[in-house]
Amino acid sequence: MCEKCSKGNFYITTPIYYPSAKLHIGHTYCTVATDAMARFKRMQGYNVLFLTGTDEHGQKIEDKAKEAGVTPKEYVDNIVEGPGGVLDLWKLMNISNDRFIRTTDDYHVAAIQKIFKKMYENGDIYKGTYKGKYCKPCESFWTESQLVDGKCPDCGREVQDAEEEAYFFRLSKYADRIQDLLENTDYLEPRSRVHEMVNNFIKPGLEDLCVSRTSFSWGVPVDFDPGHVVYVWIDALFNYMTALGFQNDKYNDLSEFWPADVHFVGKEIVRFHSIIWPAMLMSLDLPLPKKVYGHGWLLLDGGKMSKSKGNVVDPYLLAEHFGVDALRFFLLRTFPFGSDGNFSNESLISTINVDLANDLGNLVSRTVAMAQKYFGEHLPAEQQEDMEKDTELVQMVSSLRDRYEEQMEHYAFQNALAEIFKVISRANKYIDENAPWVLAKDEANKPRLARVLYNLLETVRICGGLLAPFMPATSEEIGKRLGGADMGWDSLNVYGTLSPEVAVVAGPALFPRIDMDKELAALEELSKPQPQEEEDPLPEPLPEITFDTFEKVEMTVVKVLACEKVKKSEKLLKFTLDDGTKEPRQILSGIAKYYAPEQLVGKTLVAVTNLAPRKMMGQLSCGMLLSAERGDKLNLVMLDDGIAAGSRLV
Ligand code: MSP
Repeated sequence: MCEKCSKGNFYITTPIYYPSAKLHIGHTYCTVATDAMARFKRMQGYNVLFLTGTDEHGQKIEDKAKEAGVTPKEYVDNIVEGPGGVLDLWKLMNISNDRFIRTTDDYHVAAIQKIFKKMYENGDIYKGTYKGKYCKPCESFWTESQLVDGKCPDCGREVQDAEEEAYFFRLSKYADRIQDLLENTDYLEPRSRVHEMVNNFIKPGLEDLCVSRTSFSWGVPVDFDPGHVVYVWIDALFNYMTALGFQNDKYNDLSEFWPADVHFVGKEIVRFHSIIWPAMLMSLDLPLPKKVYGHGWLLLDGGKMSKSKGNVVDPYLLAEHFGVDALRFFLLRTFPFGSDGNFSNESLISTINVDLANDLGNLVSRTVAMAQKYFGEHLPAEQQEDMEKDTELVQMVSSLRDRYEEQMEHYAFQNALAEIFKVISRANKYIDENAPWVLAKDEANKPRLARVLYNLLETVRICGGLLAPFMPATSEEIGKRLGGADMGWDSLNVYGTLSPEVAVVAGPALFPRIDMDKELAALEELSKPQPQEEEDPLPEPLPEITFDTFEKVEMTVVKVLACEKVKKSEKLLKFTLDDGTKEPRQILSGIAKYYAPEQLVGKTLVAVTNLAPRKMMGQLSCGMLLSAERGDKLNLVMLDDGIAAGSRLV
């Protein structure tokens, strides 16, 4: 293909991920989708720039680093560049990003300072006092009206009152223009998300947005007001432009690639990309991205997968176990991109078995094996068509690229793959209808047999080529089996591109069938934590804290409903507690040496109940029971029985 006949530029981005912990399958999902789109556009002939990266500032990272006893930069360096980190994960998943931005990169930091100052100078950023409800795990401030049952609308956790001197962005000024943008253009897709944004955020009245913080220091400093750091969204959103050279000299592609063609983002950050981002761009008189696509979440047992809840699925484990292409394929074949989908190991294995081992794998191996068996080196030039038997398949294959393209242009990955797999099923049926093994019995049928196999090989070529954005390595392997056939975009709607005398190359099964029960058991074993992961629950001596910080600790009276030893652990007892809410709370405590479980049932204890949940020995612990040292013994803090579960300690 002519390298220079590009169709134009195409700029696509993923969100930049928080490196507060290792990334999970949900993040992988978004990056794989973006990668498939970038590869598709490159295949069509576009000059693509695909950007991903990490969003490295904020209080949560500062806290995590402190917990780990390292500086915030050391902490994020390890998660981003360390072994098994973000860069390694994208390499493993065969992600073809052209650029990777870290918001701690010097050029980005300096550019954000300039951007903040410009907005201050043009009057769109001003100083005020922030009062609000803050959700620490999500790093989000909310207004009273946005809370759901008084809790964070994103994660459902408790929020805290917070007040501080801060800078604000005049978001309210842009409300009408944003509403017009959302309602009267196709800036935001799927359309259902437009109603959500307009009804939930714009119609109730857009409030100005707090864009600086003084309560933590891990952020881009506001250079004209020491003590303030730029709060995460200005820092985060402008990554899409600084990575092209906006307000810096590191890159120089702004005029070529801005405005972006599409930002892929998860549904919970659609608000930031469809309201705040365009308003900030309007404030600086900059062109808006052409589109924001808000995709759904991968759920686990119907609930959100999240680092702060601790219920995440490890993409490394799955990719190493089932193969990168199988995992990539599964993610985009199973879940409609715009909606939520429930992840399970069972559906992963069954997709691999049905679509990849059975339908695609069988078609490729049977076709190649038969071509070799009946014709050896290559197919003969003399071939005999049978209109009645061939037309349906040939027509389906010839028009496949157009149907696929139509779906891909609308980010409907699942539908694009469905089109390919309809053709694959039709081709498998075509094998049975034409029974090549029967034709092979009579020398006189050889021309007909050759045409049947040619039709099948041409089907494999076109399907294999169109699968490239989803399964790049598999597509390449299919090309090799067809003797290095042309699988370029222009050839994929030209039926008959494959030479009639094609020479095929046999190989092992592309996707061996998986034994569901055996693999599920193996996966369970692999995801069990190692016994040495047991953490010492004894608190370390702590540095001095302010009253404000102390006030954030929620201490609650709890009653022990049940208590038992944790299997394979010498230290841990598992408590089921009544904390005054309807849901029992589970806490693990390292006091097994000092108490028999049965002597604690019915006791009234004190627990810290807003501690981030963590896993010990594979079990979730949601809080910490208070205990005191006496000599070498730990004594649980016990209260009189009359005190009601759920009372707060004051
Ligand atoms: N740092 C911000 C984004 C700033 S973009 C200017 C952020 N980071 S995040 O790490 O929390 O999330 C990044 C993306 O991962 C979001 O689009 C989010 O929706 C996506 N996902 C996180 N968990 C997910 C699933 N379980 N399923 C699908 N996507 C999910 O938000």
